[in-house]
Amino acid sequence: MKKRIFISGASSGIGEFLAYAYASRGATVGLSARRRDKLEEVAEKCRDFGSETYVYQVDAKDRQVSKDAADDFMEKVGGIDMVIANAGIGNHDDIINGDATAINDILETNIIGVTNTLVPFIPSMKKQKHGILVPISSVASFLAVPYHGGYSASKIAIRVIADSWRLTLYKYNIQITTICPGFIETPMTAGQKYRPFLLPVETAVEKIVRAIDRGKKTFVFPWQMKIIIPIVRIMPGWLMRKFS
Ligand SMILES: NC(=O)c1ccc[n+]([C@@H]2O[C@H](COP(=O)([O-])OP(=O)(O)OC[C@H]3O[C@@H](n4cnc5c(N)ncnc54)[C@H](OP(=O)(O)O)[C@@H]3O)[C@@H](O)[C@H]2O)c1
Repeated sequence: MKKRIFISGASSGIGEFLAYAYASRGATVGLSARRRDKLEEVAEKCRDFGSETYVYQVDAKDRQVSKDAADDFMEKVGGIDMVIANAGIGNHDDIINGDATAINDILETNIIGVTNTLVPFIPSMKKQKHGILVPISSVASFLAVPYHGGYSASKIAIRVIADSWRLTLYKYNIQITTICPGFIETPMTAGQKYRPFLLPVETAVEKIVRAIDRGKKTFVFPWQMKIIIPIVRIMPGWLMRKFS
C-alpha cells in the first residue's frame, strides 16, 4: 500500500525536497505552507513522479486551519502513515527595539506550529496502531545561539516534547523521530555569515529519510556537529560573541 505522508513547510527548502524524496518513492503526499503558488509548483513536480498530491494553504500557527487540513487529507487518502512538522522560521529575536513581536512569532511558529501540525493526526495513528511523527528540530536545540534565543528555545521545546511523546505514544506503536540538522543550504540559511559543515539540501534529505527508515529517536547531523556541540557549550561568552 502507498504510504500517506503529510509535510508542513513544503513550499521551500527541506520540506520541498522531502516532498520530492517521498513522491519519487511512490508515496501519496499532503503539502502545507502559507504560499499557495509555491506549493502548487512543488505539487506539480511531485505529480510528475506519479504521486497523488494534495496542497493545503495553512498558517501553522492557526490551530483550526491546521486541523482542517489534517482531517481533509486523512479523509481523502483513507488514513495517515507519517507526518513531518517541518515548517519553521529562523529569524533574529529583534529584542533591542523593545517589541516582542519577532521573538513571539518565532516561538509561536516553531512550537505551536509543530503541535498544531502533529496532534490532529494522533487519534488516527492510535486507532490504527501505527504511525510516524517527525518534528524538525535543530542542532541549535543544544546551544544558546546569540541573537537566536527564540529559535534555540523553540527547537529545544519541540525536542523535549517529542522525547515525552515517545514515551506517551509507545503503546500505540507510534514512532517519533526528531531531526536535528546543522547548516543546510536552503533559503533560511542563504546569506548567513557562518555556515560550518554546510550540506546541500538533497544530501540532508537523503540522511533524514534514512534516519526515519531506521527508526532513530533523535538524529543529529552532520556528524561533525556531534563533536562541535560539547565544545561550543563550554566556550566562554567573549568567544561566542565573535561568531555573532
Ligand atoms: N536550513 C537549515 O540549516 C536548518 C537547520 C536546522 C533546522 N532547520 C529547520 O528545518 C525546517 C525547514 O527549514 P528550511 O531551512 O527548509 O527553511 P525554508 O526554506 O525557509 O522553509 C521553511 C518552510 O516553512 C514554511 N513556513 C514558515 N512559517 C510558516 C507558517 N507560519 N505556517 C506554515 N508554513 C510556514 C515556509 O513556507 P511559507 O513561507 O510558504 O509558509 C517554508 O515552506 C525549519 O523548521 C528549520 O528551523 C533548518
